[in-house]
Amino acid sequence: MGAVILYGTETGTGELVADAIADVLAADHDPAVYDMAEYAVEDLDAGDFLVVICSTYGEGELPSSALPFADELDEIKPDLTGLRFAVFGMGDTVYGDTYNRGGEIMAAKLSDLGAVQVGEHFRHDASSAVKPAKAAEEWAEALPALIAQG
Ligand SMILES: Cc1cc2nc3c(=O)[nH]c(=O)nc-3n(C[C@H](O)[C@H](O)[C@H](O)COP(=O)(O)O)c2cc1C
Repeated sequence: MGAVILYGTETGTGELVADAIADVLAADHDPAVYDMAEYAVEDLDAGDFLVVICSTYGEGELPSSALPFADELDEIKPDLTGLRFAVFGMGDTVYGDTYNRGGEIMAAKLSDLGAVQVGEHFRHDASSAVKPAKAAEEWAEALPALIAQG
């Protein structure tokens, strides 16, 4: 099963995270990495495993590169039955109540359309000492086993 890695970012950290996850999956899952801004909802395929990386901006909102994809999901409302996905969310605990909302918003949108979230929903904290790409590399070690279940 191939992996499609989609990232939503404002200032580029999400792309670094996506590349780190792609490196982990490269051996067995032929990962394809896309900015959400450059990925069409019509291309979602239940034959792929989806990895969603998404930061948080504004007051608990999606980052700008995730907005067109999120809007398309709302408008087209594709049936995502059979699609499995995992989420690596990004945020900063200094924002309190809106901490890591971006990844949670994307997870809810995909789930509402019939997709199934699997594995640990990771929430990276930009205030922590752990670098996002390093955290992503460790988190991604669990993905091959999840992908193999499909
Ligand atoms: C103006 C601004 C607003 C932000 N708002 C939030 C927020 O509401 N909640 C949160 O958890 N993180 C928030 N963040 C933190 C970012 O999500 C975090 O730094 C993330 O690692 C950035 O990833 P990116 O470079 O891929 O966009 C905000 C950051 C900035 C600069």
